[in-house]
Amino acid sequence: MKPDRFASKSEDAGSTMRQEETMAQKYLIHIGNSGEDYSCDAELNLLRGMEVLGRRGIPVGCRGGGCGVCKVAIHSGSFEARKMSRDCVSAEEEASGVVLACRVFPRGEMSLTVVGKMVKALERGMEKTGTPDGAPAVRSPASPAS
Ligand code: FES
Repeated sequence: MKPDRFASKSEDAGSTMRQEETMAQKYLIHIGNSGEDYSCDAELNLLRGMEVLGRRGIPVGCRGGGCGVCKVAIHSGSFEARKMSRDCVSAEEEASGVVLACRVFPRGEMSLTVVGKMVKALERGMEKTGTPDGAPAVRSPASPAS
């Protein structure tokens, strides 16, 4: 059986190579509230990329763009945003760079600040512990136990 990477059409081979390059690409993400940096795979949204590393700098809610808990303001960097609920992010907010971390995929190094409804709890947790670990979050079964 012939592996995909040896596709006979040169167009297909180019497409496969671009896909492999994208899959391997990671970008540095800086969270202003906590001063944390993490490396996010381009294939993962900002929230999932943080979670797979066991980090908690961005509050985690529904993970599907419906609750607004992961709302962040992007200060710099390029990204690809999927459709977001207008109940969570208004058109004006989106135009100014406010997005849902669970709906955004990095396309370059990014700097952001958490601005969602859990931001006060996040910052209170950081005041007490010096890390965002004191902040509330919903853990998925795949998340590492603490
Ligand atoms: S986690 Fe609910 S909108 Fe992102």
